[in-house]
Amino acid sequence: IKSISIGLLGLGTVGSGVVQIVERHQDKLIHQIGCPVEITKIVVKNLDKQRDIEIDPSKLTTDPNEVIENPNIDIVVEVMGGIEDTRNYVVKALQNKKHVVTANKDLMALYGAELLQIASENGCDLFFEASVAGGIPIIRSLVDGLASDRITKMMGIVNGTTNYILTKMSQEGRPYGEVLKEAQELGYAESDPTADVEGLDAARKMAILATLGFSMQIDLDDVKVSGISSITEEDLDYSKRLGYTMKLIGIADREEDKVEVSVQPTLLPNNHPLATVNDVYNAVYVCGEAVGETMFYGPGAGRFPTATSIVSDLVEVMKNMLLGVNGSKYVAPQFKKSLKSDEE
Ligand code: HSE
Repeated sequence: IKSISIGLLGLGTVGSGVVQIVERHQDKLIHQIGCPVEITKIVVKNLDKQRDIEIDPSKLTTDPNEVIENPNIDIVVEVMGGIEDTRNYVVKALQNKKHVVTANKDLMALYGAELLQIASENGCDLFFEASVAGGIPIIRSLVDGLASDRITKMMGIVNGTTNYILTKMSQEGRPYGEVLKEAQELGYAESDPTADVEGLDAARKMAILATLGFSMQIDLDDVKVSGISSITEEDLDYSKRLGYTMKLIGIADREEDKVEVSVQPTLLPNNHPLATVNDVYNAVYVCGEAVGETMFYGPGAGRFPTATSIVSDLVEVMKNMLLGVNGSKYVAPQFKKSLKSDEE
């Protein structure tokens, strides 16, 4: 292989970070895969938009087919967000034998099983490390690092925006609306932040983690959700005085092969490890039968942490290309879905 050509669907906060990391870390990429890596086409909504990075205008297009149907492109990076149109683009890209790396948890929580199946039928990789917990390599840790174990419980803070809001409201006594606006300006929130504050974004991520961790297809509808939009500074102040910290916590629990997954605001004792995870940081506690307790911590949102996960997925795709083993990583879930709520 002389060089690897990447097409980007989207050039927002995260897409721009991917362009910057591929440029800045080119030496490391070449060292690992033995050839240059170039982003050759980028699909944007508006060609004339002012951007905070320099891009050769000849690389920009508004037509997704210039990436997904382009015979010169090896890998498609999907960072445009959205669900139905994006699903069609990803399916087409895979059918055109392009590997896909996505940060899209909405897409993976809803259509992950179908897309992974299409990827494997076409001998393509479909990787999605950036879809859960930003810069923390949690998917790789579950799928590779803990591959030999039987996961019994996962618990975590998996939404950076709500953790940022709760931290600033509690520590600085600032109002909800003001801190939410700041989280949007910092590029943490979704384009419609309702998904963040109502717990839906965290629920999507917990569905992805539970599916991988328990090897059982857990759908978004299986996750019980409540968010933080009705929590006031007074609630936080009161809990603080009682020795507790309020966090939006996702829990995925397996007991006797029955699974339960939920996301809800939770009061944690101040000395609980998750109580000290602040600002945009995320943490995921994973308990396995053999390994015992493990905990993964890091920035959960933002340009460079999320882009780091995407570029690491790119490295894995490229190494697989050199070895000729693409499309073999994800296997179908081992167990039939069995929820605790089905008993009730
Ligand atoms: N809006 C998401 C969050 C972005 O705040 O965690 C990262 O998935």
